[in-house]
Amino acid sequence: MIGQLNHVAIAVPDLKKASDFYRTTLGALVSDPQELADHGVKTVFVELPNTKIELITPLGDNSPISLFLEKNPDGGIHHFCYEVANMQESVNQLNAIGIRILGDGNPKIGAHGKPVVFLHPKDCLGTLIELEQI
Ligand code: CO
Repeated sequence: MIGQLNHVAIAVPDLKKASDFYRTTLGALVSDPQELADHGVKTVFVELPNTKIELITPLGDNSPISLFLEKNPDGGIHHFCYEVANMQESVNQLNAIGIRILGDGNPKIGAHGKPVVFLHPKDCLGTLIELEQI
């Protein structure tokens, strides 16, 4: 079902500081910030030759990552994103075996303008998994 690792996301308290760290200290290519109101986050992508790192910080009052940052004030690894060829097929397969999809169970449009879903960490070895249709 899953293909390439699309990105690893790190939740950060300060997006500017985090971007500077990747750009200046680690010498990576860092995108401009993007606000994803639907997801309650502001993101930046670090472009690596074989994958991406997504830096995310809360946007608005009800951000789904606010609690994570309360528990991890310095930031921390938040989710992994794997590519899938057919989102509906993947969602149907996962539903059939009882793996929970977060939210209303339907894909939302993610940071790359493609459909994404998040899978419940309790059903996925304690990790939050994002699936993105490529
Ligand atoms: Co992501």
